[in-house]
Amino acid sequence: MNLILNSYCNLKCNYCFADEYMEENVKTPGKSMDYEFFIGEMLPRVKNVTLINFMGGEPTLHPRFNDILSSTLETMQPFAYLGVFTNGLMPDKTLDLLLKTVGPEGSIQRQIQFSILLNWQTKENISERNHQRCREVAEAFLGENANSLMFSLNLYSVEQDLETQCREIDAIYQDMGLPEGQSYKIRVSPAFPIVGEQENNVTLPIKDFPRMGRKMVDLLKEFPQLTFRFDCSFPPCLLDSINEEEFPLVERFFYHANQPVPDITKWKDQDLNFGCSDDSPMDIGPTGDCFNCFPFHDFKLGNVQDFKEVNDIAVKKMHTKFLGHVFEDTQAKEPCKSCPHYMVTCTSGCFAYNFV
Ligand SMILES: C[S@@+](CC[C@H](N)C(=O)[O-])C[C@H]1O[C@@H](n2cnc3c(N)ncnc32)[C@H](O)[C@@H]1O
Ligand code: SF4
Ligand code: SF4
Repeated sequence: MNLILNSYCNLKCNYCFADEYMEENVKTPGKSMDYEFFIGEMLPRVKNVTLINFMGGEPTLHPRFNDILSSTLETMQPFAYLGVFTNGLMPDKTLDLLLKTVGPEGSIQRQIQFSILLNWQTKENISERNHQRCREVAEAFLGENANSLMFSLNLYSVEQDLETQCREIDAIYQDMGLPEGQSYKIRVSPAFPIVGEQENNVTLPIKDFPRMGRKMVDLLKEFPQLTFRFDCSFPPCLLDSINEEEFPLVERFFYHANQPVPDITKWKDQDLNFGCSDDSPMDIGPTGDCFNCFPFHDFKLGNVQDFKEVNDIAVKKMHTKFLGHVFEDTQAKEPCKSCPHYMVTCTSGCFAYNFV
């Protein structure tokens, strides 16, 4: 689950679904998770879950981020995953702690699998100086532990300079001496709409998915060690415009985080769901309110204080409420409605598109 520690940020990305919060400052009540609330109410309820990601806004700007990270590491169960979504522009004291955490004396001692999810920007969303800083931060993490960091890209327009983004990331891996034959994963997501806030962020229209997929397949050819990982939906129309001789490249796409996309010629004989994952990601905001995911943050599913523990049972209860909402309160639109993949392998990209 994703814990949203604060809603403020030091960037203002055009696609960001957290954008509406960015005018708020650090001290606005309800926009930042109270440290006592985190220790007393939140952590005891989530300490047994298998995956926690800190999210924001920019979570590393939370005034007590270091204390929150340290107490979470001490409290989580062995073999659990802990992650930090970040844009890389973090205070030095936080960078120091995170570098220690990925190092040999860090999370590994507690058997926690810890990773940094670094959101890599285009020039439209970051200054040259800050971008350079992100590169230094990335190199510092990879230098400490080659498995400590995964780059993320947001697919917000077919006009964005995705090639430069991939070339910069590839250069970082080549400079650190990635052995030939070894691959690296880049986390990708189309920029989804935010329900009720359509005007505030740039989104990738579903009709552009095939063109975006075309560009991604070309990039797989250009960078042979690159693979793409989609965390939630993998809209199959992304591959509508590829040729038969390119089919072998499809195995370099992963969906629902770690499943390789199967051989495209065998899709029709398999029971596949490339749509919104069965497992709810579950975002929890600064005051403990729970949402299925950020595009649906206007649809509250509960509050952590409604439950003794935010465990599988609690999540299933909230996810059932979410599924009722998305399947009963709206319908798919074009191009999904007449798409051959719709309700066969795909539930319309992201449910949020049906609400805008
Ligand atoms: C909201 S950010 C917060 C953490 C941090 N500031 C960062 O940029 O990673 C977390 C993730 O959400 C993604 N994101 C932001 N807006 C999005 C949108 N409209 N659709 C899909 N993902 C989005 C970002 O690319 C990032 O990977
Ligand atoms: S994506 Fe991250 S870095 Fe960009 S504005 Fe949103 S919260 Fe900030
Ligand atoms: S249902 Fe929509 S998102 Fe899914 S493959 Fe078809 S057009 Fe793409």
